[in-house]
Amino acid sequence: MSETYEVAVLIGSLRKESYSRKLARVLERLAPEGLRFDEVHFARAPLYNEDIETSGNLPPEWVHLREQVRRSDAVLFITPEYNRSIPGGLKNALDIGSRPPKENVWRGKPAAIASISRGVIGAFGANHHLRQILVPLDVLVMAQPEAYIGGAPTLFDEQGELTNESTREFLQGFMRRFAQWIETVHRGQERAAG
Ligand code: FNR
Repeated sequence: MSETYEVAVLIGSLRKESYSRKLARVLERLAPEGLRFDEVHFARAPLYNEDIETSGNLPPEWVHLREQVRRSDAVLFITPEYNRSIPGGLKNALDIGSRPPKENVWRGKPAAIASISRGVIGAFGANHHLRQILVPLDVLVMAQPEAYIGGAPTLFDEQGELTNESTREFLQGFMRRFAQWIETVHRGQERAAG
């Protein structure tokens, strides 16, 4: 890659020993050179409320989240599934960044999604619900490869390293393709801007 890109990382789970967080750290380590990662912490962001928006007195957590995403070149989402969707905190972060509509900080960002579950389905429902949410936000989500990671309890060792070589190869390929996708989107946007 000819350039360095800053990637905002949003992790759906707030749990300390979260499998999603372990997967995020693995993906960061497996990424090709040229990607730098910065986690967006949204656990303390107040729930989105239009009355707060119009009051002009914005919570610092909203301001920081918007700034952090605005200055990023791409977004990586890693999420578990909660009741066939994404966890509420992640949805709140997406809502905060999306308003006011003309200042939607997600617009035009290249993105990738990896979902993870304890069972075999790999949080497919959350992954696709997130894709649906990202459509009106105008996020350019990488279509392929899709990453539905199942069997989380046996996937990591005590140090958070992967226990399985084929998963490592798959995730490394996923991050290589994501880096190419980021570059493709940015080159296209630069050409379109003239
Ligand atoms: C879950 N879990 C879950 N799992 C799943 O595969 N489909 C689902 O719809 C749900 N729903 C759900 C709702 C709620 C409120 C909780 C707390 C949990 C299980 C969940 O995916 C599992 O606990 C993961 O380990 C959570 O991800 P982290 O925290 O390990 O990243």
